[in-house]
Amino acid sequence: MSKALAEGMNNIIANLTVLYMKMHHFHWYVKGTNFYVLHEKFEQFYNDLAGYIDEIAERLLTLNEAPVSTLEECLQRATVKEAKGDLSEQQMVEETISDFAKVIQQLKECLKAAEQEGDDITNDLLLSIAAQMDKNIWMLRAFSGKNAVPPQKAEPVAWLKKRG
Ligand SMILES: [Fe+2]
Repeated sequence: MSKALAEGMNNIIANLTVLYMKMHHFHWYVKGTNFYVLHEKFEQFYNDLAGYIDEIAERLLTLNEAPVSTLEECLQRATVKEAKGDLSEQQMVEETISDFAKVIQQLKECLKAAEQEGDDITNDLLLSIAAQMDKNIWMLRAFSGKNAVPPQKAEPVAWLKKRG
């Protein structure tokens, strides 16, 4: 594994670690009519993120690289901002969407690098994390009523058309 790829993966771990705490903040402080849904969803996210952090770190160790393991270093590397107080539930959802999108962008850069280095296992790991986070973005967008894809107009099947 190249040093550049290991650095990139450490930057991902840093962002995921900040997000892990941020999802706890949202889980604890969300308020409003969607409390029950979002309280549970943010819990699912921090549990998912803990799994991603561990998988990426252990992939680095497998290839004799050193994953970041202190909060200080994570904060220095992270581009995702920590939680601020007093966000509305809608703002929490929007921030989660944009933070997840940032991490997906980092994942895409690293998984391309892994492919170029012929490292299929790292490529596959990063791709599967990106796919899960991407799906979560779709669900959060649908939840907030934004950018939802309109349902397809139903086309009558051929035998119905013939009868019609
Ligand atoms: Fe809890």
